[in-house]
Amino acid sequence: MTFLRWAGSKKQLLDTLSCCWHASNCTDQSNGRYIEAFSGSAALFFRLQPKSALLVDVNHDLQHCMRRVRNSPRKVSEALQKLTCSESEYYRIRSQTRDDLSANEWAARFIYLNRNCFNGLYRTNRQGRFNVPYGGGRSGGIPTEQTLVDASRILKKATLLEGDFFEQLKPRVGRGDFVYLDPPYAQRNVNLDNQYGPDVFGIQDVARLANLAQTINEKKGHFVISYAACDEIEHIVKAWTSYEVTVQRTIAANVAHRRPAKEVLITNI
Ligand SMILES: C[S@@+](CC[C@H](N)C(=O)[O-])C[C@H]1O[C@@H](n2cnc3c(N)ncnc32)[C@H](O)[C@@H]1O
Repeated sequence: MTFLRWAGSKKQLLDTLSCCWHASNCTDQSNGRYIEAFSGSAALFFRLQPKSALLVDVNHDLQHCMRRVRNSPRKVSEALQKLTCSESEYYRIRSQTRDDLSANEWAARFIYLNRNCFNGLYRTNRQGRFNVPYGGGRSGGIPTEQTLVDASRILKKATLLEGDFFEQLKPRVGRGDFVYLDPPYAQRNVNLDNQYGPDVFGIQDVARLANLAQTINEKKGHFVISYAACDEIEHIVKAWTSYEVTVQRTIAANVAHRRPAKEVLITNI
């Protein structure tokens, strides 16, 4: 199980996505390597526990946290257990900067803010400072030391990279890889609260997503893309096999907007 809460995480689709992974492993081309390019909390990776993996995300602090949990889970846990969950502490900890803390403390701060912020959102201001408000103690608690030790064991099989999905994957993807692509949903005229900070994935990136899918296919890899069922993705849907699924959206700030939504899985498997 992943130790983070992540807005847009595909927890509801894990059974379906696991079937895609198992199907890809049954083909002649499979090499058993798992790649996720918008990895976030890496819910599918933790479910599958592959023997070899590459996890890429543009979020530098997230990847730093994953790396510290992988390398020093007990030290991160020790730093985490020192932090108190309350609104005033939340805002004090949120105001800390990288210079105030050690590498393990910075990772602990990331987990603390993730578990205590509103709805597991990750959002930054133009200066790159995390600015999600306090969530009111409804987070389900801080992960235990054992949870982080278990996560570390699974993460030891993964290479962790930070950066743009296209730049990082295009040169690295190879024959038999299974690539899961779960970008934020960029839709014209739909405000999903800009959850991941300014300008990280926009409408213009959908064409790069299509290009990457084509490259993976040419290199005889397998891909699965999950996305909102919308016009912007229609040309990718038409080019490959696709399945519509219904999920409960949980990330809208307004509870009235947390309704069932149609999503689409697109694949070459
Ligand atoms: C919907 S979330 C992924 C959730 C993930 N599947 C999970 O299980 O938690 C989208 C992720 O894409 C990342 N992201 C946004 N733009 C990106 C880019 N251009 N390249 C790589 N990652 C990006 C965000 O930081 C965020 O973690």
